[in-house]
Amino acid sequence: MTEHEGPVSQEPAEEVRLQKVLARVGFGSRRKCDDLIAAGRVTVNGEVAVLGRRVDPESALVAVDGAPIGVRPGLVYYLLNKPAGVVTTADDPQGRPIVVDLVPDEPRVFPVGRLDADTEGLLLLTNDGELAHRLTHPSYGVEKEYVAEVDGEPSRAALRSLREGVELDDGMTAEARASLMDPSVVKLTIHEGRNRQVRRMCEAVGHPVVRLVRTRVGPIADRSLAPGSFRELTVEELRSLEQAVADKPGR
Ligand code: URA
Repeated sequence: MTEHEGPVSQEPAEEVRLQKVLARVGFGSRRKCDDLIAAGRVTVNGEVAVLGRRVDPESALVAVDGAPIGVRPGLVYYLLNKPAGVVTTADDPQGRPIVVDLVPDEPRVFPVGRLDADTEGLLLLTNDGELAHRLTHPSYGVEKEYVAEVDGEPSRAALRSLREGVELDDGMTAEARASLMDPSVVKLTIHEGRNRQVRRMCEAVGHPVVRLVRTRVGPIADRSLAPGSFRELTVEELRSLEQAVADKPGR
């Protein structure tokens, strides 16, 4: 063979047991996934799979009952309703409760952005680094909606300031949406992600936050997810998230 004939062999693709691929994307324990395969409900590239089948998770088209299992097998996307008192990190040297303890250990995921320990509400966790990067990068301006119970009753002028921008020690905040849900409850939608931003904004207009809950991240909301519980994003939710961060200028 001459140099021009190229490599003799290609790196073999990393193949993974099919039941493991299914378990990773939320079809239950590996035993349950084996049951699905044994029942003939799983196809790989259009063919009914048999027990013990291995696949390349990057390229195989896996479907259960005819429905593709996800855009990219091997990647997982969880929506967690974070309770107060849990720290948004993958590892806490001080041993405090951390968000990754509330979702499965395998595959390892990390939180997308951050909620303060005292803040409750929706937090995404994933092992998809590219999507996580886009969701947190300021140039994509993904909206986050918060419900803040505050001290006192914000006036129309205070709400206007929250909308138009308030001066914080790291600069003016961008335009936001702000409305009252109750005399002391503000719904605030921002598209920046500065440290303790909502708390600092409310404080700056004279109404310190008493309780803060995140109720939406981009297109993702879920009023029925109990505090401390998580679920997988649906394929539709994942598509809508990907759309929210597709082709934005200034990356
Ligand atoms: N703004 C805050 O002040 N805290 C959070 O956790 C999120 C946004």
